[in-house]
Amino acid sequence: MIPVITIDGPSGTGKGSLMQLLAQRLGWHALDSGALYRALAWAALRRGVDLADAPALAELTRDLLLAFRDGRVWLDGEDISDAIRTEEVGMAASRVAAHPQVRAALLDWQRAWARPPGLVADGRDMGTVVFPEAQLKIFLDADPKVRAERRYRQLKEKGLSASLRQLILDIQARDARDRTRSSAPLCPAQDAIVIDSSQMSIPEVFERVLAEVRRVL
Ligand code: C5P
Repeated sequence: MIPVITIDGPSGTGKGSLMQLLAQRLGWHALDSGALYRALAWAALRRGVDLADAPALAELTRDLLLAFRDGRVWLDGEDISDAIRTEEVGMAASRVAAHPQVRAALLDWQRAWARPPGLVADGRDMGTVVFPEAQLKIFLDADPKVRAERRYRQLKEKGLSASLRQLILDIQARDARDRTRSSAPLCPAQDAIVIDSSQMSIPEVFERVLAEVRRVL
């Protein structure tokens, strides 16, 4: 069986950085499933597809030529890596992701990422729905205020304007939608190891998770 490590949790906990570090260290594939929902939302916004129209969105998933290459995200031959990282697209992704029909349409595509020598997958439902048989499941959590402050610093470093108050509200709204939706709500798998990263740096989280990796692999 192909080994899989899943990393789930809300946005701003450092899931993405942890996934990249682990995939690099192990030499495994890396799946950023959030980028998939963001790419779909971005395409829907651009093509004027109603974010509430589940059948149209599911149809759109079958239409899209999406590729992850060299750490970049390509849609129909266009590099959309930066365009999908805005708060607007994140919020739209969370709306799109609430439709069971859309999630079902993306399931096989995500599972196809489990290829030798192994996969590290990050998202909201990697351990609960997409890879329930994963060898190691991590659920990374952190205080919403800490997550908003991290995001605020990232935006400032990029020279972008941001309001901390608004970021906290956005994070709370997105969390609420992700945690309460009926299809694949954000929650730790029963066999997940829950880590609160509020007071931890990325290298500290990485070391903690590496210890778990050594234990199971
Ligand atoms: O992780 P990221 O912030 O890029 O994800 C954007 C949105 O996509 C999340 O708020 C969530 O609603 C959705 N998502 C999901 N399931 C995943 C990954 C992301 O529902 N596995």
